[in-house]
Amino acid sequence: MRIAAVHGPNLNLLGLREPGVYGRQTLDDVNAALAAAAAELGAEVECHQSNHEGALVDIVQQAAARVDGFVVNAGAYTHTSIALRDALAGVARPYVEVHISNVFARERFRHRSFLAGNAVGVVSGFGLHSYTLGLRALVEHLREKRSA
Ligand code: DQA
Repeated sequence: MRIAAVHGPNLNLLGLREPGVYGRQTLDDVNAALAAAAAELGAEVECHQSNHEGALVDIVQQAAARVDGFVVNAGAYTHTSIALRDALAGVARPYVEVHISNVFARERFRHRSFLAGNAVGVVSGFGLHSYTLGLRALVEHLREKRSA
């Protein structure tokens, strides 16, 4: 089973960016944690990051041919991007939306997600663990679907 992790804008700055909100761990740390969790689950993960909405759409479209599902932290595009919602719906692969911070404990504009409505589920507020929890939940979901 192969999963793509998609990181949106400003997540390349993890470790430097608002450490009080996002912690000190870098995107490399997140990707290493995802790779370790995937190995434990008997799955594989490929990781992508872009600061550009259209590039994220391209990543989703291109990765879909190789992967069974997505773990997506679209950053601020979560709250604005119909294009990314449509890309994820269009490729018809299950995905989990994740956030490092608890978006519901923050500004109102972060409470709306264009992606959540089509997601298998949302994990928000567990720091780096949001990614590994999301990955685990997605792999379990895909396995249950396969054996059904
Ligand atoms: C974020 C939350 C978003 O509101 C914000 O724009 C981000 C990061 C998170 O992981 O907590 O860039 O997705």
